[in-house]
Amino acid sequence: MSGTSLDGIDAVLVDLSGPEPRQLTQHYSPFDDSLKNALLALHLPSHNELHQAQIIGNQLARMYAAAVAAVLTQTQSPSNAVKAIGCHGQTIRHCPEHGYTLQIGNAALLAELAGITVVSDFRSRDIAAGGQGAPLVPAFHDHVLRHPDIHRVIVNIGGISNLTDLPPRAATSGFDCGPGNLLMDAWCTQHLGQPYDDNGTWAASGKVLPALLEPMLAEPFFALPPPKSSGRDLFNMAWLKSKLKDNEAAADVQATLLELTCRSIASAIQKQCHGAQEIYLCGGGAHNQTLHNRITVLLPGCSVNATDSLGVNGDYLEAVAFAWLAQQTMRGKAANLPTVTGARHPCILGAIHHA
Ligand SMILES: Nc1ncnc2c1ncn2[C@@H]1O[C@H](COP(=O)(O)OP(=O)(O)O)[C@@H](O)[C@H]1O
Ligand SMILES: [Mg+2]
Repeated sequence: MSGTSLDGIDAVLVDLSGPEPRQLTQHYSPFDDSLKNALLALHLPSHNELHQAQIIGNQLARMYAAAVAAVLTQTQSPSNAVKAIGCHGQTIRHCPEHGYTLQIGNAALLAELAGITVVSDFRSRDIAAGGQGAPLVPAFHDHVLRHPDIHRVIVNIGGISNLTDLPPRAATSGFDCGPGNLLMDAWCTQHLGQPYDDNGTWAASGKVLPALLEPMLAEPFFALPPPKSSGRDLFNMAWLKSKLKDNEAAADVQATLLELTCRSIASAIQKQCHGAQEIYLCGGGAHNQTLHNRITVLLPGCSVNATDSLGVNGDYLEAVAFAWLAQQTMRGKAANLPTVTGARHPCILGAIHHA
């Protein structure tokens, strides 16, 4: 898994032979600045970007293969013990309104290098059926985190934040809430030269600017009813700059961006997840204690904890989800939830490149 944050690759080896997935090991390969910048550039039109996307896709495939090799070495597993690799790829455009989403990473090359069957391009089939193609993890959250009597909501705070609503005795739903870490990361990189605001410490040193927060919250995406999904196509530095007056203190902007993430998540839960009791955070944003505390304050009456408190490592949950999604594909089982993505029907997701 490599997500919208552009931080790097999360690889897991998962035993899916029993009723519950068992994560055997994990490995993280960070992206260096030059790869991160090249990926950021591919989100926008530029000279010969089709060629560039393929070349960087090949580079990603080699990195994915190295991450696979690392988890196999750690567990001393031969490649032929692995049924399939679920490889999300790196999103460079997500435009369901135009009928497409694009993840690069040359799955054919990964299959060749790893000698293992690869399932990739999980989102396109859902979009072809009229869906958003995202989020896809709610089906997995439903499989592993649902409680029979307690109303849980799982909030994955990656570059974009998305939630899964798990009301007891009712259908699972889910959608993207808006920016997770990506605006905070971009601002922090620009002003502190650090990829993210560790623990939200810098944000906590500033004050929220209502004159900036209100126009940001007025973005129509927040008021849209689900199904909805988002990405860097909407929430990016140009979007942030269009809201700034340029006289703001940098730390106050960071505080306001953290508030935007928290408010968009909390109001999504209040509007769409009536009766929610337990909120579980996962993804890299779950490490941001300032953000965690603020969401707790905004949702009185709910407990807010990391999924780790349920024994589920929130840093690798999405990677495990894509291993499970690959298994669904290999078994010919539909894995999109039309109640989540808005697709006209359930679909078998993904494209298969055989070993
Ligand atoms: N200690 C931390 N404090 C604040 N933010 C963190 C911390 N650790 C990770 N993050 C955030 O999490 C992001 C990575 O989250 P991740 O779940 O991998 O997102 P994605 O799925 O979009 O790649 C980082 O870019 C950073 O913003
Ligand atoms: Mg990541």
